[in-house]
Amino acid sequence: MNRSKENDDRLVLVTGGAGYKGSTLCRELLFRGYRVRVLDCLMYGGRPLSGLFNHDKFEFVRGDVTVRQDVEAAMDGVTDVIHLAAIVGDKPCECDPQRSIEINYYGTQILAEAARKKKVGHFLFASSCSNYGITDSATPIKEDGELNPVSLYAETKIDCERYLENAAKTGDFFPVMLRFSTAFGVSGRTRFDLIVNSFTYEALRDKRIIVYAEEGWRPFLHVLDIARIYCRMLELPKEGLAGQIYNAGWNEQNYTKRQIVQFILDVLGEFEVDRINTVEDKRSYRVDFFKIEKLLGITPLKTVKDGVAEIAAAIRTGLLTEQDFENNKLK
Ligand SMILES: NC(=O)c1ccc[n+]([C@@H]2O[C@H](COP(=O)([O-])OP(=O)(O)OC[C@H]3O[C@@H](n4cnc5c(N)ncnc54)[C@H](O)[C@@H]3O)[C@@H](O)[C@H]2O)c1
Repeated sequence: MNRSKENDDRLVLVTGGAGYKGSTLCRELLFRGYRVRVLDCLMYGGRPLSGLFNHDKFEFVRGDVTVRQDVEAAMDGVTDVIHLAAIVGDKPCECDPQRSIEINYYGTQILAEAARKKKVGHFLFASSCSNYGITDSATPIKEDGELNPVSLYAETKIDCERYLENAAKTGDFFPVMLRFSTAFGVSGRTRFDLIVNSFTYEALRDKRIIVYAEEGWRPFLHVLDIARIYCRMLELPKEGLAGQIYNAGWNEQNYTKRQIVQFILDVLGEFEVDRINTVEDKRSYRVDFFKIEKLLGITPLKTVKDGVAEIAAAIRTGLLTEQDFENNKLK
């Protein structure tokens, strides 16, 4: 881990830093000595950041990535950008397609233009493995495999990737596209619209879960491992990364939903499982992570079972409550 003095000179702008991934990432960046500035409109409130607010290397700017003045002001003095702000997930994007395109696509353009003008170093974009949509799961898909998005959410991510790939060709801008696996684990805003977290919660509360299309594949990674991937990326020379797309996760963490349910059964003990094999959830993708594993040279800290045990402990101790579940579940 790099906690060297040179991180003192780097100010990392994290858009969407008050969210699920961002709140853990900011803590990890501060721990490694970076200065951190969050730009977030606080769509889900600011609580996830309250523990960091009085850290002397932390700044919070309330603003919107679609408002040019907000973005330009937040970019002042920044050395690197980690862009997380978005409407996240298929259902939330369907609820307001126009605003989702504005935030996910135009917000990214505005941020990228401002970052380029200010000559920032790394520009790390949060894309998603859901860009692959439906694949032949016999062979894990590589970065140059066919994209088959089944949602507006994935389409906005693919459009951003194309825009950023082109922007990288100018030679004075260094965007990297990270197609992340589905996250799990406890964070400042623990999302319950994610498979591992929501199944664990429902199994504990109801002693029963409903699983659709259980043979569908998906890659997973812990929210802390996401933060570790970002931190490692910041340590690498930006020139070699510019314009590159990486699947971001681990080869050993591709699972079917049936396997995820089995992990939860292993950790929590018996509960009822209703298996519904309809086409409700068409997505299925197994992903190849050799490119990023070779680049980063790190391995996962947390398994899915670790994540299940962590979520269960947070619920049993009252750290996470029904209110958290209600606020952050799929609506
Ligand atoms: N969580 C996952 O499993 C996962 C997987 C792949 C990719 N990603 C990507 O990672 C990023 C972060 O995901 P997350 O799970 O932390 O989501 P999240 O919904 O918890 O966080 C998103 C944050 O962005 C902020 N935001 C939204 N619109 C904004 C705007 N216009 N201006 C400023 N801030 C705004 C919200 O207030 C929120 O704090 C997203 O880009 C998402 O697409 C997430």
